[in-house]
Amino acid sequence: MSLKVNALSISAGNVKLVVEGELFCKKGERVAVVGESGSGKSLTGLSILKLLPENLKVEGKVEVDGTDVLKLKGEELRRFRWEKVSMVFQDPSSSLNPLMRVGEQVAEALLFHGFKETEKELKEKVVELFKLVQIPEAEKRFDAYPHHLSGGLKQRVAIAMALACSPNYLIADEPTTALDVTVQKRILELLLELSKSRKMGTVLITHDMGVVEEFAEKIFVMYAGYTVEEGETEEIFKTPLHPYTEGLIKSSPKLTGKPKRKLPAIPGSVPEPSERPEGCPFHPRCRKAKEVCRREVPPTVEVEGRKVRCFFPNY
Ligand SMILES: Nc1ncnc2c1ncn2[C@@H]1O[C@H](COP(=O)(O)OP(=O)(O)O)[C@@H](O)[C@H]1O
Ligand SMILES: [Mg+2]
Repeated sequence: MSLKVNALSISAGNVKLVVEGELFCKKGERVAVVGESGSGKSLTGLSILKLLPENLKVEGKVEVDGTDVLKLKGEELRRFRWEKVSMVFQDPSSSLNPLMRVGEQVAEALLFHGFKETEKELKEKVVELFKLVQIPEAEKRFDAYPHHLSGGLKQRVAIAMALACSPNYLIADEPTTALDVTVQKRILELLLELSKSRKMGTVLITHDMGVVEEFAEKIFVMYAGYTVEEGETEEIFKTPLHPYTEGLIKSSPKLTGKPKRKLPAIPGSVPEPSERPEGCPFHPRCRKAKEVCRREVPPTVEVEGRKVRCFFPNY
């Protein structure tokens, strides 16, 4: 049982937004997709639920427990979302209806996916989900409206909703970016616990290398539409193969550390998809770039069982 993304390409007209995306997550495993804003992380995440805007063209392979996701439609697709894979977004408000009590929203999701017991059992199930995501005074929160809740509590409701149909996989796209640092840590701890206790494959999408070390067993690094490195978290932190990964690690403050200091960042920024340079997309920012890097896109190579897209990996 696994979630696989292979040679994913996503384009808007003739501009490639994602050129070659890769992802692999086993059921029960925690994987992170890391990279600066504009790297193609969210589009990759959305493709797993076939949630991309209609105007974008998708090619490549997205497979979840043997299902060819890009071919799903109608009722099959509706069931696949939530029951197989569900998603949590950066802004919990975007997953919640402001005009509806949060308990009713989760109840509605359950009904929509075939919950057939009595009204009383339905409410109990929602309260159970609220307890699962550690919402204090769960019974009382059933009747709250989203605006009554803090950002952290709203995100817990969104997570409860995502878990309602016991999916095998959860995609969490920057789930803590909009929250206070202390709340961030608790939400990540919750996701970690849930992933373990429910044997749920969890893909954490984040721009923050500082949060993945404790969370993920494996990391996929994305840059300008490419997956540029993948490997086990411990190895990546010990010896990042790609100069970009190295830069990300050096410039990320740790969640557990002392107050944030200014750390050496990678100079420059991610190119717009329409302005991706020739050759390696990272070469203009890379301290190791040579002639060949300006000319050719490096292929992905294997280095001691790890994968990296670079002509001159560190090792
Ligand atoms: N619907 C769209 N149409 C055109 N460009 C888009 C669309 N959605 C995203 N993009 C562009 O694709 C690139 C990758 O976006 P995204 O996956 O959101 O990056 P990330 O999540 O890593 O910040 C960005 O440059 C973004 O502006
Ligand atoms: Mg994003």
